[in-house]
Amino acid sequence: MLITRTIAETRTAIAHARAQGKRIGFVPTMGYLHEGHLQLIDIARQHSDFVVVSIFVNPTQFGPHEDFASYPRDFERDRKLCEARGADLIFAPEVSEMYPERSLITFQIEKLADHLCGARRPGHFNGVVLVVSKLFNIVQPDIAVFGQKDAQQLIIIKRLVQDLNFPVRIISAPTVREPDGLAMSSRNVYLSPTQRAQSTVLYKSLQRAKALIESGERDAKRVIAEIERVIATASEAKIDYIEIVRVSDLQPIEKLDGLVLIALAVYFGKARLIDNIILDVIDRAVREIAAIL
Ligand code: PAJ
Repeated sequence: MLITRTIAETRTAIAHARAQGKRIGFVPTMGYLHEGHLQLIDIARQHSDFVVVSIFVNPTQFGPHEDFASYPRDFERDRKLCEARGADLIFAPEVSEMYPERSLITFQIEKLADHLCGARRPGHFNGVVLVVSKLFNIVQPDIAVFGQKDAQQLIIIKRLVQDLNFPVRIISAPTVREPDGLAMSSRNVYLSPTQRAQSTVLYKSLQRAKALIESGERDAKRVIAEIERVIATASEAKIDYIEIVRVSDLQPIEKLDGLVLIALAVYFGKARLIDNIILDVIDRAVREIAAIL
């Protein structure tokens, strides 16, 4: 497995693989890898011959009061995990390599960043779209894998690729969970034992919402109220948002119909955890969608 720190050596290594007729697969991450990230590597390997993993805690997607400085980092651990999982190259640049100067070109995202995390973290998705565009131009992958755990990010990246004609196919991957349902996240290390025990309410509340919808409920407000009720049973939980939006444009809906995203963000102490489910509600049938096309 190769490790590169500069854009130039990354381009050279990937050009070499491409010259051998290999298809390039790409998994962008911020490191501190867990099983969720590693399953993205597995999926990338199924669709390509040379898997590139980037590890870069991207400063432009963190707000001034967010956890950029304290975000967990452990390159040696990440390196071993990538190697064991069969990645071919890790691109782990310094901030100065990715941003030798502040970028003067920025993106404006309409509609898709109006709600959910976009509303709570102003500028966050502009930073994500900026760094992912740069990474796509550096790696020039044939396919790239993103997790549905970050559903709004996934949907924005799909639209980025469509609107800007990036020649890459985006593949979505199901959310990987701990045995008790908590969605895996690098930020779970922030949780105290009590918070960790209570954090299972997030997935429980989403499952409760699904059951309610399966039993015929179609009113988004009532579903949200039920999610709130379940989360309120955890004394340390502070709800940031609970929203139900259409998958097509991420706008809120009142009556559940078609592909809907039920998403939430909840603080446990300094850890801000997100989770979601996507449901396809067609007349009386309700189907959970693990990975959108
Ligand atoms: P990061 O949070 O490290 O996540 C990297 C990728 O792993 C994302 O596609 C994310 O959706 C996926 N992922 C995280 N937890 C997961 C889980 N439990 N199950 C399945 N997939 C999971 O997302 C980012 O980094 C950054 O915003 C990035 C895209 C790298 C741009 O900086």
